[in-house]
Amino acid sequence: MDILVIGGGGREHAIIKSLRKNASVEKIYALPGNGGIAADAECYPIKANDVDGIVEFARTHRVDFAVVAPDDPLVLGCVDRLEKLGVHCFGPLKNAAIIEGSKVFSKNLMKKYGIPTADSETFTDAEAAIAYLKRSSYPAVIKADGLALGKGVIIAQNFEEAENAVREIMCDKVFGESGNKILIEEFLTGPEVSVLSFTDGKTIVPMVSSMDHKRALDHDEGLNTGGMGTVAPNPYYTEAVAKECMERIFHPTVSAMNAEGRPFRGCLYFGLMLTPKGPKVIEYNCRFGDPETQVVLPLLESDLLDIMLAVREVRLTPDMVRFKKGAACCVVLASEGYPKKYESGFEMTLPETGKDEYIYVAGAKREDGKLKTAGGRVVGAVATADTLKEAVDGAYRLAEKIRFGNAYYRKDIGRRALACKRED
Ligand code: AMP
Ligand code: GLY
Repeated sequence: MDILVIGGGGREHAIIKSLRKNASVEKIYALPGNGGIAADAECYPIKANDVDGIVEFARTHRVDFAVVAPDDPLVLGCVDRLEKLGVHCFGPLKNAAIIEGSKVFSKNLMKKYGIPTADSETFTDAEAAIAYLKRSSYPAVIKADGLALGKGVIIAQNFEEAENAVREIMCDKVFGESGNKILIEEFLTGPEVSVLSFTDGKTIVPMVSSMDHKRALDHDEGLNTGGMGTVAPNPYYTEAVAKECMERIFHPTVSAMNAEGRPFRGCLYFGLMLTPKGPKVIEYNCRFGDPETQVVLPLLESDLLDIMLAVREVRLTPDMVRFKKGAACCVVLASEGYPKKYESGFEMTLPETGKDEYIYVAGAKREDGKLKTAGGRVVGAVATADTLKEAVDGAYRLAEKIRFGNAYYRKDIGRRALACKRED
């Protein structure tokens, strides 16, 4: 079987390495992939949001199955186009990817079907939003409706910050058309949990839970990033919480999408906050999260391709998805300065990985036969172990052996999760 994977980050590297375990897999193509992924897949320089280019590639290379991993192509309808060509895909159709593509859509869905989430108001007019913010309590959360490279959420501490955010999003259009509508929502508190799930629109099977570390610096300080590290499982996500989420959030979401005529097939990601009033949805993603995928897939015992095919053919059953007992930790090595300005082009040295160690390359290119950095997030150093403490230690031991000129990583990935464990 020849498989096409769309995307080129650490998440895609993890997906490709997992797909490789299936004996029926022959070629894997990655568009665009990266210099590190090139060790495991044939990479071609077609961007993940170049849907025409992707469709043309799939046609000429006669691929048997495609995995569309990033949000942009999913929201643009890449799966619809590939399926029309006869290429079966893992990933939702455009009319279901809207669950991530429009925060106003997902908020209205949750309101309509009673799925717990933060209270909010939608605005299409900047002056009306600002008038509302004058009367709001703070912090207030302001969200651009559409995709905004992960930067569309602003937590304003006071009216001045909120007004600036609204003007930037709605008047200056810093996120383009994504800012035509905004949500202003209640500020929630509590531990955050990421739950990725497989769903074929009939059955939903959650994967092992995880915890992202979104801020650039230790102690959750600095700017929001794509994610500087993850651990799985998330110790705050107890069996009781999981049961409640299944009943009040996961099943209702799948049913709601069906009722709206938008059945979701693929990986549905629940960004949850465990508030004093119970778990609430912070965001939905229509895809695998990154770097969550880098800790979830190494713990997956079942065959990823078998699950993906079952999802596509609407025959998913819970017994198809089994996870190992232990824990995993991913430490992201980034270029110093990320998520703002950073230099690239440094030569990289990657160590051999031992048992229970994984290196997923997120931002690298091959030049003159050498692997060089080419991005903000460069590498995920991942380790699995029986306990979370051992997994964290293992990931840091591996991270120390990865070398490039301006490498930067947080030193406290997993600290909060380990503290939670000790409280139990
Ligand atoms: P996102 O860009 O959607 O991943 O959101 C970024 C972060 O903003 C989330 O991980 C939360 O930490 C925070 N956030 C989003 N919505 C809320 C909310 N209603 N209350 C508190 N924090 C929030
Ligand atoms: N790590 C969060 C995301 O993939 O959006």
